Amino acid sequence: MKKDVRDYIRTIADFPHEGILFRDVTTLFADPRGFRMAIDQLLHPYAGVRFDKVVGLEARGFILGGAVAHQLSAGFVPIRKKGKLPGTVISQEYKLEYGEAIVEIHDDAIKPGERVLVVDDLLATGGTAEAGIKLIERLGGQIIGCAFIIDLPDLGGRRRLEALGMEVHALCAYEGM
Ligand code: PRP
Ligand code: MG
Repeated sequence: MKKDVRDYIRTIADFPHEGILFRDVTTLFADPRGFRMAIDQLLHPYAGVRFDKVVGLEARGFILGGAVAHQLSAGFVPIRKKGKLPGTVISQEYKLEYGEAIVEIHDDAIKPGERVLVVDDLLATGGTAEAGIKLIERLGGQIIGCAFIIDLPDLGGRRRLEALGMEVHALCAYEGM
């Protein structure tokens, strides 16, 4: 009997590059108990807290964010990679291991003062989440929390987000990447 979300996460060596241990959440999402456990635990710190919007970060954050938003009776807002959203967007650049990327949000997706929960599967360097946070704050959203399945503390993402004043919630951590 699997007791912890970690028990449902599969580790694949040397993906996408040699030397990387890839933490694969598709096995967690595919398991009926595992997926429910993950959503329940993501929501746990926010019992009784009101949210207007859940923001999911492309792509795996969409899977979690939709379920979390439904449970909170909140709206869901996607932050997507450049060029995918059809309406008027604002954009934010961020650094990747090699090069840069751009994420976007619809400029009318969050109203000033709306209470937002940010959701993604994994917190590594925090670059993706930081870009998302900047977009939400540029629209005037009030970020109440940032929730992840996995934290890789050695990559510093939690510290980076906390330095921005964020409250970070993660269900499990893998030390040494
Ligand atoms: C992965 C993961 C997070 C991000 C974390 O997404 O799903 O979104 O990296 O890394 P960071 O904290 O160093 O920014 P990826 O960019 O691989 O894209 P995907 O979710 O679309 O597969
Ligand atoms: Mg991602």
